[in-house]
Amino acid sequence: MSQSKTWSDRFESALNPVIAQFNASIPFDIELLPYDIQGSIAHAQMLAQTGIIAESEAEQIVQGLQQILSDYQNGEFQPGIEQEDVHFAVEHRLTEIIGEVGKKLHTARSRNDQVGTDLRLYLRDEICEIRHQLRQYQQALLALAENHVETIIPGYTHLQRAQPISLAHHLLAYFDMAQRDWERLADVAKRTNISPLGCGALAGTTFPIDRNQTAQALGFESIYSNSLDGVSDRDFVIEFLNAASLIMVHLSRLSEEIIFWACQECGFVTLKDSCATGSSIMPQKKNPDVPELVRGKTGRVFGHLQQMLVLMKGLPLAYNKDLQEDKEGLFDGVKTTKACLQAMTILLAEGLEFQTERLNQAVANDFSNATDVADYLTRKGVPFREAYHLVGKVVKTSLAAGKLLQDLTLEEWQDIHPAFESDIYDAITPQQVVSRRNSYGGTGFDQVRSAIAQAKSLLHNS
Ligand code: ARG
Repeated sequence: MSQSKTWSDRFESALNPVIAQFNASIPFDIELLPYDIQGSIAHAQMLAQTGIIAESEAEQIVQGLQQILSDYQNGEFQPGIEQEDVHFAVEHRLTEIIGEVGKKLHTARSRNDQVGTDLRLYLRDEICEIRHQLRQYQQALLALAENHVETIIPGYTHLQRAQPISLAHHLLAYFDMAQRDWERLADVAKRTNISPLGCGALAGTTFPIDRNQTAQALGFESIYSNSLDGVSDRDFVIEFLNAASLIMVHLSRLSEEIIFWACQECGFVTLKDSCATGSSIMPQKKNPDVPELVRGKTGRVFGHLQQMLVLMKGLPLAYNKDLQEDKEGLFDGVKTTKACLQAMTILLAEGLEFQTERLNQAVANDFSNATDVADYLTRKGVPFREAYHLVGKVVKTSLAAGKLLQDLTLEEWQDIHPAFESDIYDAITPQQVVSRRNSYGGTGFDQVRSAIAQAKSLLHNS
């Protein structure tokens, strides 16, 4: 199709080739081709049902569209820039294959409702896929957690050792974040799954179409009730990128923890060879490239969200060509999120070796049991704030003496407060410190075991 033939006879000359290139979306929207075909088949069948075109015409159109799809999948259909976009490319090819009747497909439709339909069909599938990937990621977290209920790891606030916790508890926090992501995407899917098809260019159509029929054929839950809104709404793209950004926030935070745990100063985890890389010059190094890349790629998804918000904020109704810019960021956001989820799932499933020796040493050699000394006194009737100040003093003198709390003699304890008895030693072991935090949602081993059971049944029942 030469450029001069794309448009109505109003146009006398072809597009400047540089402008044609500038205007074209086919280099990226070709990805929508399977959805474009799906939408066009539903549209053609509806046109026949409503008597707008003949049944036999619709049949030819559908067959032609199916051939285009298989040609595309076999790599035999590779439209170039002269087609401007995927919608024109398909329509043009259809007419090449089935002749004049192909020109009837675009009756009662515009590329504006068409592209909106394609984009929703695409995103609906991708959301489904990402939710499935989130489930696999959750499985990997859960499996790791199950192996590490009694592995104790330093818990931090302000990146200062705070209180020891069960490693499983730590991992399950990420499980819960992923659960929110999974639920959030279901919510985004609801508003993605609305049909704009039949909204026409902006105002509907003069033909007696049946929008419910196409919506039903395409599996949409409902239809836009306002044609202007239908063709220009991209809220679902923004909502998706927001949900994807939060997935990336969560993956990035976990990445940061793994990178930190793997550094030599911590040595809490080592990376298995299948998931780590070396240095080109320093032979001793093993680098956490996977979590670093996930952390690094997070910014891309945030960028796409920001780009979409800015794209939309000044747009008057209805369609504007600016909207062609909705695709590349969305596609990249989808691909990036999927790639990161997949890599993190593999890393969790096979790439991490927690160093229990090192962890035991870490939690036994700090002051992260100090709160428990205060809690001990509080249980013996000392008001908590008073106990807190007393223990602060003990930490200070112990630090000065180069001692840990567990190194103090019973006399020293009793000098601090007569309520101390020999059971203080047991109360401040990492095991006790963790297991006593048995409040709902806490790190106590019993709590963690029941959280694991709950997480399992959640995955089982969905
Ligand atoms: N390639 C266009 C896009 O991606 C398709 C819709 C074009 N509509 C129009 N009126 N120019 O948005």
